[in-house]
Amino acid sequence: MALERTLSIIKPDATRRNLTGKIAAKFEDAGLRIVASKRIQMTPAQAGVFYEVHKERPFYGELCEFMASGPVVVQVLEGEGAIAKNREVMGATNPKDAAPGTVRADFAESVGENSVHGSDAPETAAVEIAFFFSGLELVG
Ligand code: RTP
Ligand code: MG
Repeated sequence: MALERTLSIIKPDATRRNLTGKIAAKFEDAGLRIVASKRIQMTPAQAGVFYEVHKERPFYGELCEFMASGPVVVQVLEGEGAIAKNREVMGATNPKDAAPGTVRADFAESVGENSVHGSDAPETAAVEIAFFFSGLELVG
């Protein structure tokens, strides 16, 4: 398996409940290395650009408002097969379907307010990492 990098976002529902450290610990416990990290608050317009792939979906407006509703912690996670591994740690989109011990099973409030985002493929990971970080900010 190749060494990969993936973009993670700890969403506003999780930062609001002070869960940043508990979620980051799950990444590290799974062998993922946090090689970049910052806390920011997006505008709805910035969230709209980030989630452009979902713009035709019925929940797009709600999703952009939610992602701008409070601080998020954006991180780059590095490791062997990091993209799939992070999605395993996250669990299914809907917390009702998420496996026990995953971030979403333990912390998500609903299918929309589900605590974390993770890139889903190498191409999207590269675009999403570049959306938030410059090369100088990635320190492996
Ligand atoms: P993510 O992109 O955040 O890592 O999550 P995902 O791949 O598991 O889910 P995706 O289908 O890409 O959806 C992106 C985010 O949109 C919100 N969502 N709301 N109300 C709804 O039915 C609904 N469905 C999706 C969630 O915040 C989801 O993570
Ligand atoms: Mg997705």
